[in-house]
Amino acid sequence: MQSLVWAVSLVLMGGIALVFLIVAAGASRPGGDAATIATHAYAWRARLFWLVLLVGAAISIGTLWNWPFASYAYAAPEPDLVIHATGHQWSWKLDQSTAEVGQLVEFQVTSADVNHGFALYGDEKQLIAQTQAMPGYVNKLRLRFTEPGDYEVLCLEYCGLAHHAMRAVIKVTAP
Ligand code: CUA
Repeated sequence: MQSLVWAVSLVLMGGIALVFLIVAAGASRPGGDAATIATHAYAWRARLFWLVLLVGAAISIGTLWNWPFASYAYAAPEPDLVIHATGHQWSWKLDQSTAEVGQLVEFQVTSADVNHGFALYGDEKQLIAQTQAMPGYVNKLRLRFTEPGDYEVLCLEYCGLAHHAMRAVIKVTAP
């Protein structure tokens, strides 16, 4: 994905550079009268408008297709397990720290002081899921663990001197 975005950016930057070069090359030629030039420019502007609109709509529809949140917001099954997680400077308080593979787990995440980032990591330190821990709000994070193991909870937002020490473990066992 990252390299695709990079490639698209490069193509767009190249296109802009090309337009600059064409304009610069044509600047010394004598132009037509102002009215003709304006008519040409307006015709191009209308075409570009529709082009941008169509490309924008296509990109929006293509990418929003995978939007993950709507499906459970409207047809939410009851979670099998709710774990309350509260961020403190500098520790996590979890009301329980075990779950089973396959359970629909809902983390209800908040903070007692400043903003923290609630981030779950797998055994190869890969980020599995994350949400903000904010004072005054409860953010719900749902997932099903597919593998047993010890999952680390770390803080993903710098929150002061011992930010790095905010660590907890969720033990996930086979059902
Ligand atoms: Cu809490 Cu960083």
